[in-house]
Amino acid sequence: MHHFAYKDGDLHCEGVALSHIADEVGTPCYVYSTATLQRHARVLAEAFEGQDCLIAYSVKANASLAVLATLAAEGCGADVVSGGELQRARAAGIPAEKIVFSGVGKTAPEMELGLTQAIHQFNVESAAELRLLSTVADRLGRAAPVAIRVNPDVAAGGHPNISTGKKGDKFGVPWAEAEALYAEAATLPGIRVVGVDVHIGSQIGDLVPMRAAFEKVVGLVQRLRAAGHEIARIDVGGGLGIPYKPGDVPPPPSAYAAMIAEVSAGLGVQVILEPGRVIAGNAGVLLTTALYEKEAPDRTFLIVDAGMNDLMRPALYGAHHEMLPLTEPARGAPEATYDIVGPICESTDKFATARALPALHSGDRLAIMSAGAYGAVLSSQYNARPLVPEVLVNGDSYSIIRRRPSFEEMLALEEIPDWLN
Ligand code: LLP
Repeated sequence: MHHFAYKDGDLHCEGVALSHIADEVGTPCYVYSTATLQRHARVLAEAFEGQDCLIAYSVKANASLAVLATLAAEGCGADVVSGGELQRARAAGIPAEKIVFSGVGKTAPEMELGLTQAIHQFNVESAAELRLLSTVADRLGRAAPVAIRVNPDVAAGGHPNISTGKKGDKFGVPWAEAEALYAEAATLPGIRVVGVDVHIGSQIGDLVPMRAAFEKVVGLVQRLRAAGHEIARIDVGGGLGIPYKPGDVPPPPSAYAAMIAEVSAGLGVQVILEPGRVIAGNAGVLLTTALYEKEAPDRTFLIVDAGMNDLMRPALYGAHHEMLPLTEPARGAPEATYDIVGPICESTDKFATARALPALHSGDRLAIMSAGAYGAVLSSQYNARPLVPEVLVNGDSYSIIRRRPSFEEMLALEEIPDWLN
């Protein structure tokens, strides 16, 4: 469910015509819907009502301060993977006691930041990280609350680039080594074991592999408790898929929550969720303008002003994004088939191949749908293109939540050494 729809011939985000935003802000630009973010956070919260649950929104999906503040107001916590994300979450008003710190490569200063902020939990991914965290915490006179991320060796399905829970993936502690690491953790002065963590991948369209992973985790919790560890939390990660095209039917949050309740029944743990895409994905679009049509012998290219540097998902994962003209096509309007490409000097700079759309002309504008997660966060300045502005709509009004940088700002961090002057 999202709040992008045609009204009176114009594609709207909530009460605002996207063509109005495109006129005022320029394209390319990202537009997010407050109502959609709120709805997704509420649907999840309602699905887990009655379970002791922390919804730690995965900041990597969309790290905009305004988006984080919107979710903070819904009571969400945060799953962060860097000191930068941790500071963003705090700056947006997310309390430290609702923050979990994930990621395979935390540095000592990042650990220190998490410890001095007194975050809820560190999700530790290796023996070496565990030992360093203990040293850093001990030096500060603290004990770090820790869940060890285990690798359950379960294939999540979906795109291999975003599958993380199979043996051989860099994520988590190998299943066979987990119990020994918990035993070591119990001896370390700066570590307080609180839970078990797992995350098997992203855009998962089927609860079966998730259930398999969580059942393994529940078995592990029981063995760890029998060995004397106090396991009060399981962190089930993120990964719930979203519809990207008509006909996609991912599992609803209600079924996901029911599955987790069933698998963890009687365990008496806090369940931590790290949802990213399911909250932000369908809450955002990327607006772009058609620049040129270009005929090739076997196809027609539509060259648009957004590029792979603005939205990487099609180039990185072959991801499908629906595209809707900002002006509603008349019934029976002529159609055309396009390869939709950006201006970047890379052949992978392509948003769609052989896509049937209403015939478009230079100056026509499109919304690239479902771009709210892993969109702006993955953008770069490749080809010296400014980072795309971001806009947040709320009912009938909108606000620019990140403006387009000036050329001077883009150069501000650089210097030409003296010897070249
Ligand atoms: N927790 C951990 C430890 C993660 O690694 C991730 C995502 C999440 C939570 C959130 O997962 P979600 O609920 O959003 O599926 N750039 C890729 C997705 C990368 C996902 C990385 N980790 C894409 O655009 O599809």
